[in-house]
Amino acid sequence: MSVRPILFHAPASPFVRKVMVLLHETGQLDRVELYAAVHTPIAPDAGVLQGNPAGKIPALRLPDGQVLHDSRVILEYLDQQHTGEPLIPRDGPARWRRLTLASLADAVMDAAVLIRYETAMRPPEKHWEQWLDNQQQKIARTLAYFDGPAHAELAGRFDVAAIGLACALGYLDFRQPHWNWRAEYPQLAHWLAEASRRPSLQATAPA
Ligand code: BEZ
Repeated sequence: MSVRPILFHAPASPFVRKVMVLLHETGQLDRVELYAAVHTPIAPDAGVLQGNPAGKIPALRLPDGQVLHDSRVILEYLDQQHTGEPLIPRDGPARWRRLTLASLADAVMDAAVLIRYETAMRPPEKHWEQWLDNQQQKIARTLAYFDGPAHAELAGRFDVAAIGLACALGYLDFRQPHWNWRAEYPQLAHWLAEASRRPSLQATAPA
């Protein structure tokens, strides 16, 4: 049995990327071992399923065999394993606000991953266009919110909310390269350009 936690990893997953970015940002990369999961919704990886019946990725198997998931739980766990400034506020209004912004970023990832599955894994004649449009509109509304009302809240710290948003936007670039979201949300584009200088984002680009 490994003495280090094992992170079940998939390089294209924006949820895995959040965990990797937090590990970089908090200097904990060497604390985990990576398991390269070969896992899709229609072909689960048997190694992933041990102690993880729903086959969640990312998942973090601790040395005592306990498996933590999903990405939100793993981020909370890892953020409590370092001595630097927390990337998730521990309490107070800031905690609920930053977690809510992080949840919005997760919603972008959820919708974008569902679109990916629908378009890449289902036969074209089975694609449900109205459902796809609604997922895309959910993404557009959320980006508009980050570009406008919530934009000022992105300045200052690269924390759980910013990590989530950067990973969500990175996933859109990866899986929807035809969509020039930067033209529609210029403040967000500027924010991502600045954030993308961080070594944590450069080292974890989806592949
Ligand atoms: C993707 O290939 O887009 C993907 C892979 C794993 C999780 C989510 C998305």
